[in-house]
Amino acid sequence: MNQVIQLLNAHRSIRKFTDKPVSQEQINRFIQAGQAAATSSFIQACTVIQVNDSEKRASLAEWAGNQTYVKEAPTFLVFCADMKRHQLSCDMHDAEMLSGFTEQFITATVDCGLFAQNVAIAAESEGLGVVYIGGLRNKIDLVSDALNLPELVYPVFGMCIGDPDQDPEVKPRLPLDVVLKHDQYDDSQDKELIAAYDQDVQAYYKSRTGGQKDMTWSEQISGMLQKEARPHMLSFLQQRGFLQK
Ligand SMILES: Cc1cc2nc3c(=O)[nH]c(=O)nc-3n(C[C@H](O)[C@H](O)[C@H](O)COP(=O)(O)O)c2cc1C
Repeated sequence: MNQVIQLLNAHRSIRKFTDKPVSQEQINRFIQAGQAAATSSFIQACTVIQVNDSEKRASLAEWAGNQTYVKEAPTFLVFCADMKRHQLSCDMHDAEMLSGFTEQFITATVDCGLFAQNVAIAAESEGLGVVYIGGLRNKIDLVSDALNLPELVYPVFGMCIGDPDQDPEVKPRLPLDVVLKHDQYDDSQDKELIAAYDQDVQAYYKSRTGGQKDMTWSEQISGMLQKEARPHMLSFLQQRGFLQK
């Protein structure tokens, strides 16, 4: 296995960091690696807000559901899907931008995911640890106002980056046959495969938590999916000019 694939397979989220700062040169390098990701129709629709202000960080940590590492990580980035510069480009050419298409929402959001994952890999390649923070969307309105985000821009997720102060095990992933299908969708074996995978996840959680967390993957997912998923998102995104049609 080559070194790149080894690095990818060694990923685990880090939620505890030392005080060692991440230099601005490093961050700039990671962001440029993010920019190098493929981008739908060259739209380059991701803007990153690096949040250094400690009061803002404290608010973001609280709004994300009291995730203390948002406040404590050496670096915190917010990845925003951004169609505002496209509006500007149209203005520069006296063109009327037809905005609000679901397709534009998808492409801008996918752009952010690809950009951010490059940033994560770049950081991990320099020995740092990262964790994504989707919890920011709990209070997406407050987050957007605190960061002064205009229409056509929304925060997709945050990311903590820093020197790891913990060494968690790599979390086992679904078996290859569940996620890779050949020529057509066929989930006839999935139930059995997931039941076997459940045992791996249960063992992982038990070992990670000294026996305290005793849960399988399908239990975790079924518990989560019985709850509403941030039902405020659609109206928020529509207010900000996304998902109109
Ligand atoms: C978009 C996204 C949002 C996430 N949000 C959070 C979060 O708010 N808090 C957190 O602790 N982890 C968060 N995570 C991390 C996931 O929980 C983690 O990636 C997953 O459990 C797999 O574990 P691993 O990254 O250690 O392999 C998020 C991951 C992604 C991709």
